[in-house]
Amino acid sequence: MEKPSCQFFGVFPAVKDYLKENLNDFHVSLEEKELLSPDELDSTTDVLGVFVGSKVDKTVFDRLPKLKLIVTMSTGFDHIDLDEAKKRKVPVCNVPTYGENTVAEHAMALLLALSRKLFPSVKRVKEGSFNYDGLRGFDLKGKTVGVIGTGNIGKHVIKMLSGFDMKIVAYDAFPNKALETTLGFMYVPFEKLLASSDVITLHVPLFKETTHLINKKNIKKIKQGAYLINTARGGLIDTEALLWAIETGHLAGAGLDVLEEEEDLQHPDHLIRAHHTSEQIKTVLMDNRLIDHPNVIITPHNAFNSLEALERIMDTTIENVKAFAAGKVQNDVTEIKKK
Ligand code: NAI
Repeated sequence: MEKPSCQFFGVFPAVKDYLKENLNDFHVSLEEKELLSPDELDSTTDVLGVFVGSKVDKTVFDRLPKLKLIVTMSTGFDHIDLDEAKKRKVPVCNVPTYGENTVAEHAMALLLALSRKLFPSVKRVKEGSFNYDGLRGFDLKGKTVGVIGTGNIGKHVIKMLSGFDMKIVAYDAFPNKALETTLGFMYVPFEKLLASSDVITLHVPLFKETTHLINKKNIKKIKQGAYLINTARGGLIDTEALLWAIETGHLAGAGLDVLEEEEDLQHPDHLIRAHHTSEQIKTVLMDNRLIDHPNVIITPHNAFNSLEALERIMDTTIENVKAFAAGKVQNDVTEIKKK
């Protein structure tokens, strides 16, 4: 019998051999680049593997008549059209818990880099100066931090933040009351969190319902001079609203691992070749303004990227494929109830 065929995009070079060895019951094709056009697909593919920069939309499904399974090497799955997958009865399996501590640690890195002006401080010394004028930061101790989303990553963020003696408030569409007692924080209504937090950090998935969770209206309700951290998804924040807040000084700074339309920044070719609305192009231009702003630090969607997390990602991805081949679907996000 012919081996089922797997086509993977966005494969990290360091794990290519590992993936190949562990999927030796399959005919495997591994591409390092993300899937940017359906023309790159092999129509005989049974299993499609992707990372977050590969958009899996209707055109991709149309190109793959034999498709039986999608595996994404990520926790987030907003790059995949789940309605289309459900319609075609194709399970979509993710890696739900590889990065709870990993992403939380990156959020802490962004926060500390902002609070202690780490980036300009390092630059100053590299340029040969030990003058600390203009490099005064602020203490986290005693400040209020608002955590939006108290799931796997948010929980770890709360644990880490309590080590800094911060007052922690949180908001979640589905509050976990038991967690409140064990981790020592308080759930508050969304707008109260915005108004009372010195630092706000986002840890919710990107759904239709959470798109522009921070928007032109409510960003004005955030406490003047607060800092915003986003390691979840760019689409949670309306870029125009954020740019306004940063440029007017309403927000003192932002630490971002994700941006709206970030795939165009990662793959400038995509911006030239693929169809874009004027809104999308405007967003890319505003992303560049944010990148250039001295009070904003941006990392290239790198929060997941630790050695240990990468191992966990690959092991679960391999298990997802093998479980499916053995007739047992696991980690299928088409079954997740939206909140
Ligand atoms: P999770 O599913 O464990 O937690 C999400 C939390 O958000 C849940 O408590 C849920 O009740 C809450 N929530 C859902 N809808 C909401 C809404 N409308 N309003 C308020 N709260 C809502 O997810 P986890 O593992 O904590 O990950 C969060 C997100 O982080 C992922 O969806 C992904 O997009 C992002 N992520 C980013 C990475 C990076 O490299 N930058 C790596 C891994 C994840």
